[in-house]
Amino acid sequence: MQITPSILNADFAALGAEVARIPSADWIHVDVMDNHFVPNLTFGPTMVEAIARSTSVPLDAHLMIENADREAPAYVEAGCGSVTFHVEATKAPVRLAREIRAKGARASMALKPATPIEPYEDMLAELDMVLLMTVEPGFGGQKFLDLVLPKIRRARAMMDKAGVETWLQVDGGVSLETIERCAEAGADVFVAGSAVYSADDPDAMVNALRDKAVS
Ligand code: DX5
Ligand code: ZN
Repeated sequence: MQITPSILNADFAALGAEVARIPSADWIHVDVMDNHFVPNLTFGPTMVEAIARSTSVPLDAHLMIENADREAPAYVEAGCGSVTFHVEATKAPVRLAREIRAKGARASMALKPATPIEPYEDMLAELDMVLLMTVEPGFGGQKFLDLVLPKIRRARAMMDKAGVETWLQVDGGVSLETIERCAEAGADVFVAGSAVYSADDPDAMVNALRDKAVS
């Protein structure tokens, strides 16, 4: 069970200090948005590289961008240990996953809430992680969508059947209230943005979330 806090709701004017507040994080989740794939804009590879240099915690890049086929490799070069592209924004997901792995990072594919997992069953072995969005991507602080829980269960069953080591990540509305539902359905990597950065002690929240997921 791994906790990957998202810095989307952190203070962007002090990202180095914000990342230093969560030493217990397994990964730092960096949300890259281009104002086209989602109606919000964050940062690109130069900023991600600066964040990577500021911490020893590995970076988990979540690319909410068009043209992922062309742009994703730059995030491996920026120092991310894991790079997630959206299947809805990728023309050749198998080729892209292989390219990310060949460059030395974990390859991961994200699905929006209404995108089915079934068409991708045969490519699970090409992926180190699948991210199932539990809100529509674009903003932090949205309400967890329970309607994704059956898809989490189906994805877990598919992974078990295929015998792959692929991690199953959830992102959106994950909190002390919702994390047990996700874990029970089969998720093992949890992104939490506002739950962590709105806590008085963000690092204690990271550990509390992990404890809840394990229980
Ligand atoms: C939303 C982003 C999330 C976001 C999660 O599109 O992908 O990573 O930061 O924030 P919370 O945990 O507040 O829903
Ligand atoms: Zn995200």
